[in-house]
Amino acid sequence: MAIENTLSIIKPDATKRNLTGLINAKLENAGLKIIGQKRIQLNKTMAENFYYVHKDKPFFNDLVSFMTSGPVIVQVLRGDNAIKINRTVMGATDPNEAEEGTIRKEFAETIEANSVHGSDSLENAKKEIAFFFAEIEIINQ
Ligand code: CMP
Repeated sequence: MAIENTLSIIKPDATKRNLTGLINAKLENAGLKIIGQKRIQLNKTMAENFYYVHKDKPFFNDLVSFMTSGPVIVQVLRGDNAIKINRTVMGATDPNEAEEGTIRKEFAETIEANSVHGSDSLENAKKEIAFFFAEIEIINQ
């Protein structure tokens, strides 16, 4: 296995309910190290650009509205097999399908307000990290 960095976002539904610490504990308990983290407010252009791959989906406009409805925490997670481990601890996109013990099973409200985002591949992780972070903001240890 390889050491990887992946991008995580704690979404507005979770920051509004003050769940950052509980979500971070789940990430750390899964063996992931939070090597970069900041609380930001996305604007419409940033959210549209970040989710550009979904621009033709019926839920795109709602997703952009939701992601700009409050602060988010963007973070870089590092560890062995970090992309897969993060997606496992996040759980399925739809909280109704998420397994017990996962972040989305415990905290997500709906398929849209699903508390967290995580990169789905190494290629996307690199792009998504570069979207939010300067190199100086990431400590690789
Ligand atoms: P995320 O992992 O951030 O990637 C795209 C997001 O779109 C997803 O989490 C959900 O928040 C949202 N999403 C995916 N599918 C749907 C859907 N069917 N209806 C509404 N929102 C969705």
